[in-house]
Amino acid sequence: MTNEAGESEYILGTDDGELARLDFQHRVWSASATSLWERAGVKLGAKVLDVGSGPGYCTLDLARLVGEHGRVHAVEVSERFISFLRARKTQQALTQVTTQQADAQTMILPENSFDIAYCRWVLCFLNDPAAAIARVAAALRSGGRFAIHDYYLYTGVKLAPPCASFTRAVAAVNQSWKASGGDPDIGQRLPQMLIRAGLQIREVTPLVRIGRPGSMIFDWPPEFFRLYLPRLVANGFLAQTDVDEYWRDLQAYREDSAAFLATPPMIEIIAEKP
Ligand SMILES: C[S@@+](CC[C@H](N)C(=O)[O-])C[C@H]1O[C@@H](n2cnc3c(N)ncnc32)[C@H](O)[C@@H]1O
Repeated sequence: MTNEAGESEYILGTDDGELARLDFQHRVWSASATSLWERAGVKLGAKVLDVGSGPGYCTLDLARLVGEHGRVHAVEVSERFISFLRARKTQQALTQVTTQQADAQTMILPENSFDIAYCRWVLCFLNDPAAAIARVAAALRSGGRFAIHDYYLYTGVKLAPPCASFTRAVAAVNQSWKASGGDPDIGQRLPQMLIRAGLQIREVTPLVRIGRPGSMIFDWPPEFFRLYLPRLVANGFLAQTDVDEYWRDLQAYREDSAAFLATPPMIEIIAEKP
């Protein structure tokens, strides 16, 4: 998919709204990411590959964890996101960060050179995730690890008590995502793909959180819906009346002490190159 400037972008776009949403999303999930990085072996001096880095919110955190003698190489298809990351890396004098604008499915990387590769919410958007995994596997050194965080049952996200307008919006997101060639349930296929790429599975962990009104978790889907539901209406996946009903319902749920949001079930995987 390309934007008005003719640049590559994924289905959620690369505008200022998406930059801000990814920042918020990173704050919601940064503790989980840090824990996964630690379990995968990220440490001072490590050489890390961040695949589909987006604007680099993880890249910059990783850069601080590996320190000035380590390295974090970010690969991202969007020119806009990579430029944003380059500017921040310069601003923060993080010389250990390097960047590459490339499609993860065709990226050229040095072989046998990274200690850790990391990929969060990217494989689910790719037409050919196995191609990206094969390239990551080749780039890892022997003993190197690939840590992944992704969805395995997107429609498992629930606003409770059951909310029909929310369920309709989720079904439309799911449908448009699949129509773009992605897989919102990719986690179910990832261990098999990793093994086929010659890696050994070291860890498979579920990740789901529940948040009540007023929490960051409760606000996570609406922050996404605010940007994405208008696109679904424009592309015929959802009616404007459904969207209006969802926002009305959400207002009522925000004031209901019985309400909660269960995130889409996600999977964390660590695989190792023999
Ligand atoms: C939901 S964002 C996640 C960004 C980052 N990994 C994070 O967790 O904050 C998905 C990212 O994948 C990138 N992406 C999508 N398709 C890609 C591809 N074929 N190659 C490289 N990056 C891609 C998008 O541009 C976007 O930055």
